[in-house]
Amino acid sequence: MTRGLVVGNWKMNLDHVEAVHLTQQLVSVLASRPAQHVDVTVAPPFVDLRSVASVVEAERSLISVAAQHVNDHESGAFTGEVSVTMLRRLGVATVLVGHSERRSLFHMDDQLVASTLRAVRRGGLDAILCVGESLATREARDERSFVRAQIAAALGALEGHDGVTVAYEPVWAIGTGQSATTTQVAEMVDEIRDEAARCGYAAARVLYGGSVTADNAAQIATEGRVDGFLVGGASLKAESFAAIVSACNDCYAERR
Ligand code: 13P
Repeated sequence: MTRGLVVGNWKMNLDHVEAVHLTQQLVSVLASRPAQHVDVTVAPPFVDLRSVASVVEAERSLISVAAQHVNDHESGAFTGEVSVTMLRRLGVATVLVGHSERRSLFHMDDQLVASTLRAVRRGGLDAILCVGESLATREARDERSFVRAQIAAALGALEGHDGVTVAYEPVWAIGTGQSATTTQVAEMVDEIRDEAARCGYAAARVLYGGSVTADNAAQIATEGRVDGFLVGGASLKAESFAAIVSACNDCYAERR
């Protein structure tokens, strides 16, 4: 039986002082409410990574640290970019790959997602591959084949069978306050598990992201049959993030 996974994607929020503060709050709230069945990860901006990793190490916390993005090259003339090796040396364990904001705002197409995923796995870090359809794609009832194609393009380029989690984040649910229904989540999770298995990743965990809150997490975890969450806005407050971790943990405790 796998463990749950809850990831906080801080996006471009919190400077390194604020990031340290939130990490300290999280360490303390999670220590008072241990989540035995769930792994907890935070993905701060690049400039906060070392500070957050230092707090986690000093406190001997089980929180792990992820980056929100990475360049697919090992080194060289790529002004403004960061490599997998640099992240690994900072204590980063995981990288988000192909978040919809990277895809839509920074021209990350399926090919670049695939090469970035390859670079992350080659460098020995875990990856969270983000997939999800736009509202127009869902209205055209094309969401299943769209998401399957995103997964095939990314996982098909890999040689291994582990180290990848898939996060389903429908673009229309991100930051809108309108999460997908549990039926929509469950249907897509089945589709994703099937496609991931076809690509050799049968054991990949599948997360949901998009307007997850302390109020809807328990229901989505149970009825949506997800292995956890990728949380944006609600991960910026220790209390709401910890409540989502607890909801996921309770769901796992019941499944056992
Ligand atoms: P929100 O939880 O703010 O909708 O963001 C979801 C997301 O994009 C996490 O990666």
